[in-house]
Amino acid sequence: MKIDLTGKSALVTGSTRGIGRAIAGTLAACGAKVAVVGRDKAKADAVSAELKDSRGFACDVAVPADVLKLVEDVEKEFGAIDILVNNAGITKDNLMLRLKDEDWDTVLDSNLRSAFLAIRAASRGMMKRRWGRIVNISSVVGLMGNKGQTNYAASKAGLIGLTKSVAKELASRNILCNAIAPGFIETDMTAAMAEEARTALMAQIPLARLGTPADIAWTTAFLCSEYASYITGQVLVVDGGLVM
Ligand code: NAI
Repeated sequence: MKIDLTGKSALVTGSTRGIGRAIAGTLAACGAKVAVVGRDKAKADAVSAELKDSRGFACDVAVPADVLKLVEDVEKEFGAIDILVNNAGITKDNLMLRLKDEDWDTVLDSNLRSAFLAIRAASRGMMKRRWGRIVNISSVVGLMGNKGQTNYAASKAGLIGLTKSVAKELASRNILCNAIAPGFIETDMTAAMAEEARTALMAQIPLARLGTPADIAWTTAFLCSEYASYITGQVLVVDGGLVM
């Protein structure tokens, strides 16, 4: 079994580092042309230069006009967007009672509205071509909730509702939409965690390790492949067994 995405064009948001970068690399290794996207064009170009048939694009996904322009630019450059991975995401943590309105808005705009806008724009071409794969990177926190992350958890749970609704609306056009809910993955986002918190967390993970960006990247590649052609509207939890 080999995942072959030759001839497909993929757009991965937030792909200059971490999980997004691993997804971009894996999709490219499977043969897809990949649009590497970051807020900083130079960084996106540097990552794309390492990948075959790939291009760098600048986009702040929290800015609606940027997202629409990104979809337009990638379609112009590649001729199509067959695969859309909504990966860009941020945290702005605080206990609910102390959470500022602006931190609620920034997280919802960056993590959830961005995905809606990208899906609405990119799905038009997918509908015409009768083929599409959309993967939204949610989180186990969207399933379990988490103290200090009301905004982030709401955005990630929102992505799950978005995923299921899009899956129902677009299934007749052969467009599949799924979410991945990663557990704790070794990236810059989790590097800041205190040693004590890390040890406590590890005790709750049956596989007794944090995940790697590659764990999420291969799950994404699978969901974009022909092997997953009967899977839509699902949330694939990739967390070492933390949530079951
Ligand atoms: P990261 O912080 O290392 O990377 C996030 C990427 O998104 C960066 O390239 C960043 O520049 C980009 N980004 C953030 N806001 C952006 C914006 N407004 N416009 C354009 N790009 C933007 O994070 P990581 O860990 O790689 O996370 C990737 C996704 O996976 C996020 O959606 C995160 O919520 C999710 N996730 C991560 C987990 C983890 O344990 N690391 C667990 C569950 C979900």
